[in-house]
Amino acid sequence: MPFIISENIADEDFESLFAIQYKAFSNQPALKACYPGGHDEPAHSANVARFIKVLGWKDSNVAAAKVVDEETGEICAFATMRVYDENPFPGAKDSEIHLPQVDAGIRRAVEWTFNTKNNRRRGFEALQLPGPYCLLQVLGTDPARQRQGAATLLVEWAVRISDEKGARTVVEASRDAEKYGLYAKQGFRTVDTHLYVDEERFPGFDGMHVVTMVRGAVENSAAGNVALRFLG
Ligand SMILES: CC(C)(COP(=O)(O)OP(=O)(O)OC[C@H]1O[C@@H](n2cnc3c(N)ncnc32)[C@H](O)[C@@H]1OP(=O)(O)O)[C@@H](O)C(=O)NCCC(=O)NCCS
Repeated sequence: MPFIISENIADEDFESLFAIQYKAFSNQPALKACYPGGHDEPAHSANVARFIKVLGWKDSNVAAAKVVDEETGEICAFATMRVYDENPFPGAKDSEIHLPQVDAGIRRAVEWTFNTKNNRRRGFEALQLPGPYCLLQVLGTDPARQRQGAATLLVEWAVRISDEKGARTVVEASRDAEKYGLYAKQGFRTVDTHLYVDEERFPGFDGMHVVTMVRGAVENSAAGNVALRFLG
């Protein structure tokens, strides 16, 4: 298991990065629906392009790392992180995400899932924690290479960058990642859990389960009590 971590991501890596993301999050129907056709042609190129856009690859405040098998050169896992000088949540505009590529039968439910994230963001606003912030995103390991320490390397990378910047690290983790202790082992604590499903409006639709976790100075700040309110 000779893994190395690298921030050197080339354009030709995006095929592998998309494949990892698609396979790793295949149990999240709302995410999967955003990439209809997955890896199959003719949808593949459009999906990779969409994925690069979601990553915000050209944005100056996006950092990224991949975990590579040193022997084979294969990319096994990756993550991105948005770096903010100040808490990005207060005053941020509500999102109005439109996903024309999603199948018409579930499009409204999927859009609702992403746009309802506004409610989540308000939880962060209430935390009133001053910046800087590092927001860890799209962390995933190829299912064939899970349980070999790849994600742990990525969380260590995120923590190192955050510490260098004196920043808090925030992640909207999957329930699995929380259950595995991936973040808690490196000092993150849960401030909120949210299930993005509206059973009444969209019966049978399984949205996204997200656990918001923060690392750094929550318990010692005046906002610590507010953070705890969101635990319930
Ligand atoms: C969650 C995920 C990223 C973990 O990746 P990974 O590379 O397998 O993680 P690691 O090998 O570094 O394991 C980290 C810890 O989780 C535990 N773990 C990982 N998978 C596990 C499983 N299926 N069951 C129980 N524990 C598990 C490991 O034992 C390890 O614990 P340890 O530090 O005590 O040894 C991976 O399962 C994944 O990509 N899942 C789908 C997408 C997702 O949920 N991403 C997280 C978004 S925040």
